[in-house]
Amino acid sequence: MKVLITGGTGYIGATAVEIMRSLGYEITILDDCSTGHADTVPTGLSFIQGSLLNPTDVAQALAGVEAVVHFAGKSLVGESVEKPDLYHHVNVDGTRILLDQMHQVGVKKIVFSSSAATYGEPTQIPIKESAATAPTNPYGATKLAIDHMLSAESAVRGLAATSLRYFNVAGALHCDRGWLTERHNPETHLIPNVLRSSAENPLKIFGGDWPTPDGTCIRDYVHVIDLIDAHVKALESLASPHHEIYNLGSGDGYSVRQVVAAASTALGYAVPTLDSPRRAGDPAVLIADISKARDGLNWIPTRGIEAMVADTVASFK
Ligand SMILES: NC(=O)c1ccc[n+]([C@@H]2O[C@H](COP(=O)([O-])OP(=O)(O)OC[C@H]3O[C@@H](n4cnc5c(N)ncnc54)[C@H](O)[C@@H]3O)[C@@H](O)[C@H]2O)c1
Repeated sequence: MKVLITGGTGYIGATAVEIMRSLGYEITILDDCSTGHADTVPTGLSFIQGSLLNPTDVAQALAGVEAVVHFAGKSLVGESVEKPDLYHHVNVDGTRILLDQMHQVGVKKIVFSSSAATYGEPTQIPIKESAATAPTNPYGATKLAIDHMLSAESAVRGLAATSLRYFNVAGALHCDRGWLTERHNPETHLIPNVLRSSAENPLKIFGGDWPTPDGTCIRDYVHVIDLIDAHVKALESLASPHHEIYNLGSGDGYSVRQVVAAASTALGYAVPTLDSPRRAGDPAVLIADISKARDGLNWIPTRGIEAMVADTVASFK
């Protein structure tokens, strides 16, 4: 099957490219490299360095394609608060252009990177897909708007669509070209930042008085390899015009201090930390209910926090 991977030079997209090509998919990448890295593209792979916002680039990228795996977009919560229009333009308008171009050439299948940020402050843990959606930042609002767009598109234009709502993605993939890992700038994800912590610039722990066993926030992490496995399963199960939403996490929560402890073990020294005040808007606990993905996609994540930390450590060397 020939698949367009948008955002295929980013952290998750480049990992998808590698895993999916090893499974025999024919791949085209569309990426403007605004936060991705062209050096991740395997030699000989079809790569269009262009934007979702440019219909000509998108039409070129869709040539001969049967399905789209759509990772491209802006994904920093803090930046989205400062630049909500940019986030709406790239994520929502960009996806609108992609869907219109897909419709024009008859591409009827899409798997989309949605986010746990669509839920906002949870009222129940673990979070089910049926939970209320009330995003607390513009980034989450753009992901929710796209989920709604996909529902409408499946009803009106016969699209087969799956939204995968990721919790926190971590870990790295080793391939024959070396490690594919997170290279975000700025980096906002906990595990890479724990690994970069130093005595001069210690990792800030935002709040030690949350209602959790060790007082720090609890989050659900999923290994990027397990995450891509779910994408492949979602892609292969797309058939009739329908939009389905699945949470992707591990179904387990780890506190900030547990992640720091796992990193300290992997690194062989105590990661320096600095106790800091709570950040406004941080929920105490976010854990996914992943039973729908387990039952509907036959997906079971197999890598725990130790593997996520160890792989990230190895990939940073
Ligand atoms: N990393 C996580 O924990 C996480 C959690 C939830 C959802 N997501 C979503 O997963 C997707 C991938 O995340 P990531 O961590 O790999 O981010 P990333 O920034 O590494 O990758 C995004 C890619 O999209 C490309 N891109 C941005 N704007 C584009 C445009 N207009 N046209 C073409 N390409 C464009 C970037 O250059 C980059 O390669 C994003 O949609 C993100 O919102 C990520």
